[in-house]
Amino acid sequence: MPAVTVTPTSSAPISDERDLMFRARLHRWLPDVLDGLRPLYDDRADALADDLIDLARAAYDARSPELHARDLERLLRPDWLQDPSMLGYAAYTERFAGDLRGLIDEIPYLDELGVRYLHLMPLLRPREGDNDGGYAVADYRAVRPDLGSMDDLEALTHALHEAGMSLTLDLVLNHVAREHDWAAKARAGDPAYREYFHVFADRAMPDAYEASLPEVFPDFAPGNFTWDDELGGWVWTTFNEWQWDLNWSNPAVLKEFVSIILDLANRGVDVLRLDAIAFMWKRLGTDCQGEPEVHAVTQVLRAITRIACPAVAFKAEAIVAPTKLLAYLGSGSHTGKVSDLAYHNSLMVQIWSMLAARDVRLAAQALGNLPPKPPTATWLTYLRCHDDIGWAIMDEDAGALGLSGHGHRSFLAHWYAGDFPGSTAKGLVFQYNPATDDRRTSGTAASLIGLDAAEESADPVRIASAAAALRLSHSLIMSWGGVPVIWSGDELGQANDREWASEPGHEDDNRWAHRPRLDHDRATTRHTQGSVAATVFGDLVELARVRASLPHLHGSVETAIGPIDDPGILVTVRDHPIGRFVGVHNVTERRRAWPGWRARELDVADAVDALTGSRLEWGEGDQVWLEPYEVLWLTTN
Ligand code: GLC
Repeated sequence: MPAVTVTPTSSAPISDERDLMFRARLHRWLPDVLDGLRPLYDDRADALADDLIDLARAAYDARSPELHARDLERLLRPDWLQDPSMLGYAAYTERFAGDLRGLIDEIPYLDELGVRYLHLMPLLRPREGDNDGGYAVADYRAVRPDLGSMDDLEALTHALHEAGMSLTLDLVLNHVAREHDWAAKARAGDPAYREYFHVFADRAMPDAYEASLPEVFPDFAPGNFTWDDELGGWVWTTFNEWQWDLNWSNPAVLKEFVSIILDLANRGVDVLRLDAIAFMWKRLGTDCQGEPEVHAVTQVLRAITRIACPAVAFKAEAIVAPTKLLAYLGSGSHTGKVSDLAYHNSLMVQIWSMLAARDVRLAAQALGNLPPKPPTATWLTYLRCHDDIGWAIMDEDAGALGLSGHGHRSFLAHWYAGDFPGSTAKGLVFQYNPATDDRRTSGTAASLIGLDAAEESADPVRIASAAAALRLSHSLIMSWGGVPVIWSGDELGQANDREWASEPGHEDDNRWAHRPRLDHDRATTRHTQGSVAATVFGDLVELARVRASLPHLHGSVETAIGPIDDPGILVTVRDHPIGRFVGVHNVTERRRAWPGWRARELDVADAVDALTGSRLEWGEGDQVWLEPYEVLWLTTN
């Protein structure tokens, strides 16, 4: 056991409530720290725990009274992320608001939309030149100079907190920039820092690892290792050659990150997005994604934050197969001890798949068979984010419906690239891999869904139809349970940035097409009745407002897929102790009928549609008729 006394005793100074609180948290969460550390670092674990607790104590003592109050608030409301009033927004600071001070001025805009959670894309100082949108961090203790300073970041978190919003920042923990001080010291020959990375003198080990490693950026960064002359070796670089993977089996790396996390927490950051978390641990003969040690490391980091700053939550960025995803929210001995949030990549992919195929059966198969997540954890639901869409359709799911997985993935990639008959999508192909024929897709929600093309055609019928499809898609992420996050610009139905390639360093990476600067002129038209921006923005505000009033949408409740009577209609069922919620989504551009007997069987025949406040209406033949892309949120109380 470490030398720390963890039992609160009567000799603890009663006057020092802070001290007592720290000891109570230590008592509660130290076992999680130790259980995580021991399988990772064997006999070094206990001494390491002592060091980590010293760091936690120092951070706890330095934490502001305001943030201590926030800790208490969240300890009293541990389900704060699951509340149906949570609505998220994600943006690049400079593309949304210029800089951090400018962002403070945009808080009223976010508030108008109903935002309670803001994810600002990487803003810690990256390397110069191409830096993967900030994911190549050169200094975790400084803000990008063009965005402001650490003081500005603190001013922003303060202003957001005052407005009832929390701030999410990326914690890039799989790699650092080649220019980071640790990498610079390794290049200068410091053996202690060389141990921070995976460095190999010759190709023997890299070749052995490559045999089972996939490529993340086969197009512009093939292979997983880069030769570095200064280092005199091959360094592991899963992503770009200037993003050096860290060696988490070295406890010094863990200590560095604990200190970084505590520092960010004390600046007021509420949620840390654990970037590329799957890749953190390497094991020969595997794809080096989601190894069990990843979850042990996360458990340690999570327990330390719970001790020092429990207001802080973790979000896992693990874009992995649905069956592997749940481990990031906690399974087995890690249940409830790792991340609080994870991206629901499968839901995102299935929404796009349903719209393209006008068929919900594959989505029902894939989503209906996901094992339940721990009730304390929550999905981050989204339609678009800053990354491309990888068409993660499982062969088994497709096979169960007599489809070919490859065939359907290929259909989706072509459909959203706009080169399939009938498609008006304007996506771009990202990272075409001729070896696997894999194509991923870039594009904003409006450009993918056909709103962009409809606006160009100026045909009001097409515009209304595409806007309705967008509303339906947003309805799905809003009614699933979790934190729905809107990608900046999608709230206005913004199209792809046509000039994406003209910025230096962006020309090879068409993900920049769907990372447009917020169109402030378009934003001003959100109050102009009949404008596209007003429709899209207004629909979102309304969905978020109704959502916030429905306890049924609390994130702890699982969404089940209802029976399919018409392949164009997706029915979701959520059973909250307060009553049942049934979502009915017509994913097609045609009127569709939902049988009355089914509504009665599901006990929603007398339900009210929370979105309109009206009761279900029965049309001819005992049918509920749904308009194209119509959505019903039926509640029984
Ligand atoms: C994550 C980010 C992505 C980035 C990668 C490497 O997947 O979302 O944008 O390229 O990590 O940091």
